[in-house]
Amino acid sequence: MTSPIPFLDLKAGTAEVRDELDAAWKTTVDNCAFIGGAAVESFEHAFARYTASTHCIGVANGTDALELILAGLGVGVGDEVIVPANTFIATAEAVSHCGAKVVFADIDRETALLNADTVRAVMSPRTVAVLAVHLYGQPVDVDELTTVTGPAGVAIIEDAAQAHGATLRGRPVGSLGVAAGFSFYPGKNLGALGDGGAVTTSDPQLAERIRVIANHGRALDSKYDHVLLGRNSRLDGLQAAALEVKLHRLDDANEGRRAAAKSYEASLPDGFTALTERDDVSAVYHLYIVRCMAESRDTTTSRLDSGGIGWGLHYPVPCHHHEPFSRARRADLSVTEELADQILSLPMFPSLDGESIGRVCEVLGADNQSS
Ligand SMILES: Cc1ncc(COP(=O)(O)O)c(C=O)c1O
Repeated sequence: MTSPIPFLDLKAGTAEVRDELDAAWKTTVDNCAFIGGAAVESFEHAFARYTASTHCIGVANGTDALELILAGLGVGVGDEVIVPANTFIATAEAVSHCGAKVVFADIDRETALLNADTVRAVMSPRTVAVLAVHLYGQPVDVDELTTVTGPAGVAIIEDAAQAHGATLRGRPVGSLGVAAGFSFYPGKNLGALGDGGAVTTSDPQLAERIRVIANHGRALDSKYDHVLLGRNSRLDGLQAAALEVKLHRLDDANEGRRAAAKSYEASLPDGFTALTERDDVSAVYHLYIVRCMAESRDTTTSRLDSGGIGWGLHYPVPCHHHEPFSRARRADLSVTEELADQILSLPMFPSLDGESIGRVCEVLGADNQSS
């Protein structure tokens, strides 16, 4: 009896650093630095350095990170922000919670990401920002996007929730736009032991505003002065301590994901097409996506279920089909719609080995072989 292959193996990643995690948590508990303090400051420095940014602000989660960037930039009522319809709903939620209008753009068929053409198609005089979502771990070509947004004075904000460690032409995500929002949800490439998030930016004024808003609007130099309308969105010391331990392993973990993607590429059976990794990026494969081209996705997933192979769908229902966003202005989203019916996420995690990938591909192609 062969053992099942999970979609994600969090246990393996945690076991690898278990002793270091225990030691880091012990130090933080001993210091009683639960909100802010040494562990948060140390992680913020390390993550700023990692993303080639001058500032990192630890926050409560990735959705807050995006919302705080928008609030820090002064985005609000009367503004439009362009978002891909193929993303996790949080990207759109962040825009609406700032009072701005979400505008949905279509995606490139080969990469499933925004590009200059799809953004240009929905820009208007009210557009103030584009949320460039580096979905599945591949960076949007922000340089190309800038040729469209730059002349219009539209800001590019990175949603880097799925792309810790990815690069575009050698530059890390987190440093490609005016600011970037990261999620440290446990299953992400850099995952906390609970919720967590961060903003990176090299704009000192924006960094200060975000830090102030995230801490009840409290001025940085005065405990009793609340200078902006703020909220509570802070990173816990225990999470920061865990994140710094895991940050040291992130590049190795991403290499494991890239190796797994290469193995898939070499053995995907007919009828399944992988998304394209462009030559100008190093993608970090938060998810490994194939398009089911020859049979219905339900047929494929039933076969995976029978073979004990985990899978997921990211995302079968594009944002504009969810009630809160059903009236948003949008482009013709035909590529988004087409991909939503085809995409399938196969097992992907750093320690996924070649033998397991061989088995996944065998089960995927089983029908082709028997016909
Ligand atoms: C693309 C994208 N944006 C934003 C988020 C929101 O992050 P969080 O769940 O930490 O709020 C996620 C997390 O799932 C995501 O995948």
